[in-house]
Amino acid sequence: MNFKEELEQRTQSAWAVVEEYLPKEEGFSGNLAKAINYSMRAGGKRLRPVFMAAMYEMLGGNSEIVKPFMAAIEMIHTHSLIHDDLPAIDNDQYRRGKKTTHVVFGESAAILAGDALLNYAYETAFQAFELAQNEEEVLRVAKALKILGEKTGLCGMLGGQGVDVENDGKPLSRETLDFIYENKTSALIEASLMIGAVLAGVKDLSDIRQMGSCLGIAFQIQDDILDVTSSQEELGKPVGSDEKNHKTTYVTLEGVEQAGEEVKKLTHEAVSILLQLPGEKEFLKDLFLFLCTRRK
Ligand code: IPE
Ligand code: IPE
Ligand code: MG
Ligand code: MG
Ligand code: MG
Repeated sequence: MNFKEELEQRTQSAWAVVEEYLPKEEGFSGNLAKAINYSMRAGGKRLRPVFMAAMYEMLGGNSEIVKPFMAAIEMIHTHSLIHDDLPAIDNDQYRRGKKTTHVVFGESAAILAGDALLNYAYETAFQAFELAQNEEEVLRVAKALKILGEKTGLCGMLGGQGVDVENDGKPLSRETLDFIYENKTSALIEASLMIGAVLAGVKDLSDIRQMGSCLGIAFQIQDDILDVTSSQEELGKPVGSDEKNHKTTYVTLEGVEQAGEEVKKLTHEAVSILLQLPGEKEFLKDLFLFLCTRRK
């Protein structure tokens, strides 16, 4: 199987896991569940659960406990996108090739669907306790929950989104920009890799965190590049969103070409950390390199 086929297969099996955990659209709150499932099912690369499962497998994990966490990380990521697109934040009308949640369901429903999805992610992750086979696995699940909470909140993705939004229209130093990217984007990618590792029994996560940090910053710089070089058809979301919101990005600071060089440099840093880890690394290495030149 070549890399593209393997990626396709792993993406499909990650999605099959996530889909099992989606909420039922029933009862008085069925409409909110519909809004949640609309955005979850819209598509997307499913990169974070793919990362988590690949890391878990690479480091020898073979239990069901990873499954609720794969669903939870994709739920938290999708929550971040529903809210990121709201009129008060980036005010975008398309996501994953479809109308954004607030356009289809209204703004108040999108705010609540985002909140409910964030909470549902934790309700889902807690289910891992029921799948744990022994005390050691219970302990690993508890450690994974701590990572999930920290990387999502004030000191992670949401903190980064906060600093991102409050600086719209302002010139930024490279240091502030790095803080924003490290948190709004790297934090959930770090969490995916770290949770895969901790569930497989890894104790020292510092290299894996660093690898996720490089990969996440590279991923966000490439997102900024695509915002000026791609098209809505290819991306599934509007281009020119950053300019519309007067954002300082790596592209406005350094230009597309230099920003592309940063993506390469950070990707190679991530690969060199990966190569020092144990296990069969081929797929993750190819995935890191593929993301470096991704077009969507
Ligand atoms: C979009 O993430 C938000 C960023 C962190 C740049 P993805 O590009 O992973 O979005 P989907 O999940 O494929 O839609
Ligand atoms: C958002 O960054 C990162 C999130 C945490 C959602 P962007 O605002 O650049 O993401 P896109 O381009 O809308 O996907
Ligand atoms: Mg944004
Ligand atoms: Mg946005
Ligand atoms: Mg963007």
